[in-house]
Amino acid sequence: MVELVAGADIVPATLERFAQRYPGVKTYASAEALCNDPDIEAVWISSPNRFHAEHAILAASYEKHVVVEKPMAINLEQAAAMVEAADKHGVKLLAGHTMSFSTPIRTMHRIIRSGRLGRLCALNVWAFTDWMLRPRTADELDITQGGGIPYRQGPHQVDTIRLLGGGMLRSVRAQTGQWLPERPIPGFYSAFLEFENGTPALVMHNGYGYFLGAEMVPWGEDKKRYTLDERISVRRALRDGTRNETDDKQALRIGGSQEMEVFSRSERKAWAPHDLGFLVASCERGDLRQSAFGVYVHDDHGKHDIDTTGSQTTGVGQRRAELQELYDAVVLGKPLWHDGRWGMATLEACLAIMASARGREEIKLQHQVPVREDYDIDFEVPDF
Ligand SMILES: NC(=O)c1ccc[n+]([C@@H]2O[C@H](COP(=O)([O-])OP(=O)(O)OC[C@H]3O[C@@H](n4cnc5c(N)ncnc54)[C@H](O)[C@@H]3O)[C@@H](O)[C@H]2O)c1
Repeated sequence: MVELVAGADIVPATLERFAQRYPGVKTYASAEALCNDPDIEAVWISSPNRFHAEHAILAASYEKHVVVEKPMAINLEQAAAMVEAADKHGVKLLAGHTMSFSTPIRTMHRIIRSGRLGRLCALNVWAFTDWMLRPRTADELDITQGGGIPYRQGPHQVDTIRLLGGGMLRSVRAQTGQWLPERPIPGFYSAFLEFENGTPALVMHNGYGYFLGAEMVPWGEDKKRYTLDERISVRRALRDGTRNETDDKQALRIGGSQEMEVFSRSERKAWAPHDLGFLVASCERGDLRQSAFGVYVHDDHGKHDIDTTGSQTTGVGQRRAELQELYDAVVLGKPLWHDGRWGMATLEACLAIMASARGREEIKLQHQVPVREDYDIDFEVPDF
């Protein structure tokens, strides 16, 4: 069992909303005060990117296990220090929140690993989102503090293709794009990533919110964060300087009118392309891609729709999977798949997307780690 013991935030109004949502749960006005609580065994860090390393190292120094949101850190030096702190204090460090934890991707990974469709030959991922139109704090509009699509959304795609492709990327060649003057951070990238074994992966994310990936599936039209009219008015308000980003951002936070449900309570919620995007994994004898409730397998026998919303989790089950992975590692002694070294390898590739764009050159990677042989060995894939 996982129990929520306490929460910390430096903004009293946010802490108050947290207290209302979770009566009886302790609140702290600083990360340090929270880490000092002996009742707490693990800390989930979702502070702004620039604090991820500081807060993870702080929590580790108090011998708390850590889940850190993506991006794990701003640079590789910070990531290495986080890994070192976790090792030194004997705690688990989980690099969390990417779509690689979702049930359709875990299903694809198990099918690829089974060899049933032959060798994985290529990966293609397309994301078209309205990420750049969502309200932002000042630090989110600063690339040196981890702002922009490659830092914030790159981890979803990179973590996912690394899982499906075996983990060991060899190099990255990429270009980034920044074409909304009111948003001084990259809102686009297009990258060619090659694995050590030669498998290619093409990934792209356009966050400017004109065309949305949800429109790529027949059932996706109404599965959008902002409607077309909302996107038009947000863009207009950004251009004429009338948008109240502070209020809009606070509305997204806990207890706000636009808060997103983190642990979905709905039993069956259809997937449509969003932050990870539309993914096709091509193998020698078939293609895999997401379906409304799982994974399509296109093989020599036809097209199969595997429902993955069964017994293990509801929906894509991402947050639950993160907690489960940490729980299994801490309580049951199972391996932590998305550990600090794994997260650092994903961060390295995201940083390489930006470095390749800056230098207009291919970047060789040095910190990649493989997917363990026993990754998700107990994860059940429905028959097809
Ligand atoms: N917004 C999302 O949907 C989303 C999804 C996945 C991951 N993330 C990640 O979560 C992190 C936060 O993003 P967000 O959009 O929720 O931002 P946010 O600004 O809404 O949340 C950050 C919170 O941290 C608090 N905070 C700031 N400095 C702090 C400090 N020193 N100590 C303690 N608390 C502090 C802020 O008051 C705020 O409540 C980012 O790393 C982001 O990449 C966000």
